[in-house]
Amino acid sequence: MVTASAPGKVYLFGEHAVVYGEPAVPCAIQRRARVTVREREEGLRVHLDDLTLDGFTIEYAGDATGRPDIDVSESLVEAGIGYINEAVDQARDAAGVEDGGFEVSVESSIPLGAGLGSSAAVVAATIRAATTELGVDLTASEVADRAYQVEHTVQDGDASRADTFCSAMGGAVRVEGDDCRRIEGIDNLPFVIGYDGGAGDTGALVAGVRQLRLEYDFAADTVAAIGDVVRAGERALAAGDLDELGDLMDFNHGLLSALGVSSRSLDSLVWAARDGDALGAKLTGAGGNGCIVALDETDAALTALDYTPGCEDAFRAALDTEGVRIE
Ligand code: PMV
Repeated sequence: MVTASAPGKVYLFGEHAVVYGEPAVPCAIQRRARVTVREREEGLRVHLDDLTLDGFTIEYAGDATGRPDIDVSESLVEAGIGYINEAVDQARDAAGVEDGGFEVSVESSIPLGAGLGSSAAVVAATIRAATTELGVDLTASEVADRAYQVEHTVQDGDASRADTFCSAMGGAVRVEGDDCRRIEGIDNLPFVIGYDGGAGDTGALVAGVRQLRLEYDFAADTVAAIGDVVRAGERALAAGDLDELGDLMDFNHGLLSALGVSSRSLDSLVWAARDGDALGAKLTGAGGNGCIVALDETDAALTALDYTPGCEDAFRAALDTEGVRIE
């Protein structure tokens, strides 16, 4: 039996624009998915214990294609099982085994579909745990590559490398197309997360921006402007200038709003954090509903978010410099 964990992430800068080749800077956060894997005779048995779901167990004789009889949304179950099934296949492929059963148990404190990279964290931790259980020792970057293949397959080709690379490697990373690297020398960023309790439909939001960009020059210019903000953000990060980082997060949020991916609830959390003296605040991930990320070294933004109607949860989640690891 092996347990592995991997962190969730926030986008400090650059979501959506990264889809069109601009750079983005996702950062791993100290909220992890933990996955325990044990070999069994045959079939896949999965137990999910997620923040946003009641725990449940599903057992399959062969591949995960049947319909489980449980009391949670079928789309959530199918999505979760799809990721785990593909991750287990990647582990089998890495170990050169055709089949073989697994019992997989997932524990995650990362809200689902809320811009914090829950699926990438579960996939990276599953691949690391399952390969170790099969006696194969993958490096973090090999886990990143295989985790990306999983997201690419499950999301029908609509996935950037950002989430999976960040979760596998940890720390602050830079992603531009297929070029992914860790930004060295960053060991702390005082992130505060606000969560509106909802989720965004990444596919629909990405499609909306794609359409807007085809229809209007301003949208293409806005995507390019986000790229400029990211490059300025990289310089501020290198200089350790938190004040400027905060300002640039504010600009990035404004540009995302112009692309139509924010919402009343995300705007209200962003403004609550700013009113609470955060250095800056923006939505993180695809948008719609889900999470915002603020930068604040004090407890003021956290307190402001705690008192904001519509904020289901607010928590501090500092940068996590460690990526996927065996527990
Ligand atoms: O909300 P998330 O964590 O799935 O992030 C989506 C980020 C996008 O840039 C909008 C899409 C992508 O694949 O990079």
